[in-house]
Amino acid sequence: MLSEAETLGKNLRQGTEGSSPLILQRRLTAWNRRRLAPAFPDPDWSDGLAAELELSVLEGEFVEQERRAVIERAAMAPHDPDSFVAWFEALKQNGPGQNDALFPWLAESAPLSAMRWFLQQEVAGEAGFDDLVALTQVKLTKTAKLELARNYWDEMGQGHAGGMHGPMLERLVVALDLEQDSHGVVWESLALGNLMVALGVNRRYAYHSIGALGVIELTAPGRAACVNRGLKRLGISGEARRYFALHATLDVKHSEAWNREVLRPLVAGEPRVAPAIAEGALLRLNAGARCFERYRRELRLGHSEQLENCA
Ligand SMILES: [Fe+2]
Ligand SMILES: [Fe+2]
Repeated sequence: MLSEAETLGKNLRQGTEGSSPLILQRRLTAWNRRRLAPAFPDPDWSDGLAAELELSVLEGEFVEQERRAVIERAAMAPHDPDSFVAWFEALKQNGPGQNDALFPWLAESAPLSAMRWFLQQEVAGEAGFDDLVALTQVKLTKTAKLELARNYWDEMGQGHAGGMHGPMLERLVVALDLEQDSHGVVWESLALGNLMVALGVNRRYAYHSIGALGVIELTAPGRAACVNRGLKRLGISGEARRYFALHATLDVKHSEAWNREVLRPLVAGEPRVAPAIAEGALLRLNAGARCFERYRRELRLGHSEQLENCA
């Protein structure tokens, strides 16, 4: 008889629809919460290792399944640094999920209930950019490590609690009275967060993580501008929507620095990282696109609606 983990793994491999992806992603979300939380020595620490191994296999199978969908396109990314950065930057226009109709709709027309539902999903899928950067920078080469440090320092509000990005998002959660747990969150949003943690924690995906984080910096400003505009239209205070107002502009600079100081030198030093970074970027964009599609479905929004850009 198959164990629960084996059944889930099998269902995932077969792409079974229905509740299986939700069960799997909920398990991974709960595990990620546990394994990243600061804790204490436990006399029974060895009891949990078998379960950890099962989850680790499920996580690996999840990432590998996602990789199969992007491997071909990523293999076409150029290996010389200048062309690679140009290829990467073009993802802003031609990457999966770009210019999705969801965002102009959030900016211009979404009622407060829809905006709250959307933010609830997004917050649940948010793995904490600061921690992902910190996990990813371990043992990187000097130039890349320095840029990840500068990026992390910005996440830390340059040393001021009031400017820390994580708590800034928390303030919006409080202002809109959003739920703190992930109950009622669609599996696509959970999968997005679980993907980012998997790339950040497992060093075999270190360059994938760099690609995924870099593509967030590249593509977040346009979406953040739309969400900020929508929140403003709905009468949400400047203080509560500061996270989105800030990321609409700051990430433009973060993206330029990431591409110059992280992507370029890494690809110049070792061309093999090019397809890995490219895969990471496409993995993240695909996971995001899958969320937008589900959100539009839940919010009964068509795909063809094309409104002007928010930036
Ligand atoms: Fe940030
Ligand atoms: Fe950023």
